[in-house]
Amino acid sequence: MKIAICPGSFDPVTLGHLDIIQRASQMFDKVIVAVLVNPEKNPSFTAEERLDMIRRVITDIPNVEVECFEGLLADYARLKNAHTIVKGLRAVTDFEYEFQMALINRKLNPEADTVFLTTSSQHMYLSSSMVKSIASFGGDISDFVPECICDEISRRLGSQNQSE
Ligand code: PNS
Repeated sequence: MKIAICPGSFDPVTLGHLDIIQRASQMFDKVIVAVLVNPEKNPSFTAEERLDMIRRVITDIPNVEVECFEGLLADYARLKNAHTIVKGLRAVTDFEYEFQMALINRKLNPEADTVFLTTSSQHMYLSSSMVKSIASFGGDISDFVPECICDEISRRLGSQNQSE
């Protein structure tokens, strides 16, 4: 069975992430969306909230599972018997960091390769931090995140920049 991992912070999951997850699900028997639990990054949503939002947006993709992970991605891939790490590439600016991560992960786990999927053009500018920034100023994020989690994100982040 060909198992792939789609790792990330998913704080929160966006339509760009979902596009990569959907396309990966057509290439592998099983895709594990792996949510990094990293308190140092000070995420806006807890790991449980991020997990729950992803579960809600992948309900109609049968071969996708979602889990949290801590520690090294290379170790997690070994634990899950996954030989592929799937990452989305938006622009040249992503490349240097992702290239370095791919090399390090392969050094730590030579049995796992990283493959890059080019983002769909409509998601080139999209990132979780942009979504959070727009939502925190009360902006419309409906073009950027799946519909079923849009209200929850807006509600959670919407009041952050409102003056008294
Ligand atoms: O969505 P992100 O924040 O760009 O995802 C980054 C992620 C989770 C893929 C990356 O931070 C990661 O793999 N972290 C786990 C720690 C690790 O294995 N680091 C590489 C060796 S330094």
